[in-house]
Amino acid sequence: MKIDILTLFPEMITGFLNESIIKRAQEQGKVTINLLNFREFSHLNNQQVDDTPYGGGAGMVLRCEPIVEALESVKDEDSLVILLSPQGKTYNQKMANDFTNYKHLILICGHYEGFDERILEYADLELSIGDYVLTGGEAAAVVVTDSVVRLLDNVINEDSKDNDSFTEGLLDYPTYTKPRDFRGSLVPDVLLSGNHQNITKWRHEQQVKKTQEKRPDLLK
Ligand code: ADE
Repeated sequence: MKIDILTLFPEMITGFLNESIIKRAQEQGKVTINLLNFREFSHLNNQQVDDTPYGGGAGMVLRCEPIVEALESVKDEDSLVILLSPQGKTYNQKMANDFTNYKHLILICGHYEGFDERILEYADLELSIGDYVLTGGEAAAVVVTDSVVRLLDNVINEDSKDNDSFTEGLLDYPTYTKPRDFRGSLVPDVLLSGNHQNITKWRHEQQVKKTQEKRPDLLK
């Protein structure tokens, strides 16, 4: 897979790309991730990328031409173009799974008051990571990149994806490690029993119980 991230602040993202599982996935050739600063595509003096809104109002609006020209420099017939904005469809695990079917994702990060609305004509999808407003799309691009790359084949242990939260519409089951007794709080006996049928049954019951308690909306 290839991921191109169009941003005015690539350094907000580089640290994230150069650590841990996402770094390894790139080294192993599972994904190629490029950061493209669309300021380089500005036609204006001082490489300006924004301007005041028509009709007045607070803040600055991102202009079409630097973003669209940056997009055109990387887009091909395999690309899925995703515009990150708080007005988009709310991201979830199913969408992360769907995105793994594409060879090329392009993530466009906004900043300031938002985009010129006409940029939407160049995107396949407007996507929000939740009902809150960020200073820009960079944190959202990191969220999408991370959640998609970990699902690519052999990036993480394949078994550990099966019981991910949300995969079957349920939260993950509780896990424990040593010591068995931490300040009087004990690991459930069933996990020490060695009976794998009972363990599987218990884990599923726990998934349902946890989901009922914490996220009843997922069971509807
Ligand atoms: N940009 C600003 N807020 C955002 C959000 N919630 N999701 C995606 N992009 C954003």
